[in-house]
Amino acid sequence: MVHLGKIPTDKEINTPVVEGLEQIKLEEPSEDEITTSVYGSRFAAQDLPRYEMPEKEMPKEIAYRMIKDDLTLDGTPTLNLASFVTTYMVDTRTVLPSMIPEEADMFQEDEAEKLMVDAFSKNFIDYEEYPVSADIQNRCVSMIARLFNIPAHDENTNAMGTSTIGSSEAIMLGTLAMKKRWQNKRKAAGKPYDKPNIVMNSAVQVCWEKAARYFEVEEKYVYCTKDRYVIDPEEAVNLVDENTIGICSILGTTYTGEYEDTKKINDLLVERNIDCPIHGVGWVVWRDPEFLPKELIFNINYLGADQASFTLNFSRGASQVIGQYYQLIRLGKHGYRSIML
Ligand SMILES: Cc1ncc(COP(=O)(O)O)c(C=O)c1O
Repeated sequence: MVHLGKIPTDKEINTPVVEGLEQIKLEEPSEDEITTSVYGSRFAAQDLPRYEMPEKEMPKEIAYRMIKDDLTLDGTPTLNLASFVTTYMVDTRTVLPSMIPEEADMFQEDEAEKLMVDAFSKNFIDYEEYPVSADIQNRCVSMIARLFNIPAHDENTNAMGTSTIGSSEAIMLGTLAMKKRWQNKRKAAGKPYDKPNIVMNSAVQVCWEKAARYFEVEEKYVYCTKDRYVIDPEEAVNLVDENTIGICSILGTTYTGEYEDTKKINDLLVERNIDCPIHGVGWVVWRDPEFLPKELIFNINYLGADQASFTLNFSRGASQVIGQYYQLIRLGKHGYRSIML
């Protein structure tokens, strides 16, 4: 092998492999054609459109690459220590209870991701077209309701529930149901029903304040102290009056993750013979139709199917429901316990 190369002469270079080929002229690329890398195109020079929708299309490779690269400036979910603001799914096989998040090799399970991506284009509200997705929601509702000890052993139980976009929507729906139920009772008794209030911890997540203000319910707070970040059951029940639509008791407060003493609140209400509902969950379930006034449920016919709807939003993708179902059956009670302990 010789490592000294002979430099070809101009004549050698310009001799075509096939005679006559040198006369064929290729067209210049159009300015939208990607001839170099994405960042060699004119789109990169112009930066991503920010304020005004562009007049013309851009090639899909460029749109994808530039948005993907833009998103690299976001934080990384696996490095986000505030667990409740992270939505990726954990692979429990790789997480030991003693591991703190950044030490654990955690990632979204491909299987969950695939199922969720497949469901992206399904509009969950179209039950007629996607009956299995609808049924999967009902399976989740049943599993979650049973976790909250819905009295399913009683034949006359008519508990019901729904998936929501997140806890905020669940809480809005819960607040609405409590307010309407309270109003109906007050109207039936010929009493004023224009000053509803709700009792809650001053450290509630903002969605409770939103629910109260959006639906015109006065906020009554039990304030935290230096050593207590959860609701004080005694103080909460003391704040209840004839205009109280309910008490909010949180199972896993936003700031410390502590469970509020729902049983103690309930015992005090029973002891004092006060009829006041307690709310607290992510998906929303009602123990009995009595707690969900029927005027809030819309019986509609959408794309050929009769359905009962009680949600704030109508359309949404089916992915979240499918992802939830995957988590419930993939982890089971033992899997969830392993993560929490
Ligand atoms: C205790 C609690 N309730 C409700 C919410 C609101 O839930 P979402 O963000 O799903 O609307 C949060 C979210 O941080 C929360 O921590």
